[in-house]
Amino acid sequence: MSNIEQTLSIIKPDAVERNLENEIKEMFKDKGFNILKNKKIQITKSEAEQFYKVHETKPFYSDLCAYLSSGPIVVMVLEKEGAVLGNRDLMGATKPEEAAEGTIRKKYGISIDKNSVHGSDSVENAKIEINFFFKD
Ligand code: PPS
Repeated sequence: MSNIEQTLSIIKPDAVERNLENEIKEMFKDKGFNILKNKKIQITKSEAEQFYKVHETKPFYSDLCAYLSSGPIVVMVLEKEGAVLGNRDLMGATKPEEAAEGTIRKKYGISIDKNSVHGSDSVENAKIEINFFFKD
């Protein structure tokens, strides 16, 4: 039975700033992801606060939201078999120094906040996050 899923991916400000958009998209395509939707935008801090609401009690919440809204980001809908976990695997661990070889964060991540990419952590959250950025 096929298990085609969609997930939301964000190329974060640190990676857009370093012109890594195309390299990161190539890494997704090499792993068989189809990029169904794609746009470069800049969001406000208040939009970032809505997006990261699940983290609102965390000590780093304010910094996280300030960071995501600090510059242009690229938001994408990725699709493939098992896309949600596949994307988490390709991204690597949150802390770039703990990320495995061959992952995006190992290759490009700078720190726990400037870790280059975000990916939905479940099929349910993927639907919510896709709807957040692509309401049409
Ligand atoms: S948690 O607590 O397990 O849900 O958190 P985690 O999945 O590790 O991280 C959630 C997002 O918060 C960012 N993060 C941080 N930002 C700034 N400072 C600190 N200390 C910090 N710790 C975690 C992390 O990059 C995750 O961002 P996203 O965009 O969800 O990948």
